[in-house]
Amino acid sequence: MNDSAQPICALDDIPDGGGLEAAPAVLVLRRGAQAWAYRNVCPHFSIPLNYEPDAFWTYDGGLLMCAHHSAMFRFEDGVCVDGPCEGASLVRVPIRIEDGRVLIET
Ligand code: FES
Repeated sequence: MNDSAQPICALDDIPDGGGLEAAPAVLVLRRGAQAWAYRNVCPHFSIPLNYEPDAFWTYDGGLLMCAHHSAMFRFEDGVCVDGPCEGASLVRVPIRIEDGRVLIET
C-alpha cells in the first residue's frame, strides 16, 4: 500500500458508465464498482478528450470517445480501438478504491 495516496473523489461522484475530471487533467472512468484513471490527454493531438468541463462521451459503460475526432478508448486499458489514433493508448494514472473513495497513488 502506498501511504502517499490522496483521495480525489468519491466513487459515487462519477456517473456509472461515465467519466469525471476528478483532479487537474486526470479523468476517472467508472463501471459499477470499478474505476480507471487516465491523463486527460488524447494521444491523437495531445489535447483534452473533452471540450466542456466534465462532458465526457461514453458508450455502453465501456468506451470513451474523444470529443474532437471521435477516437474510441476502452475503459479498462485506455487503448484506442477505433479512430484516427487506433492502437495508441491513454496514459494511465494509478488509483485504488477504498471505502467508496477514489485515491490517486502519488
Ligand atoms: S484529438 Fe482526440 S481524436 Fe483527435
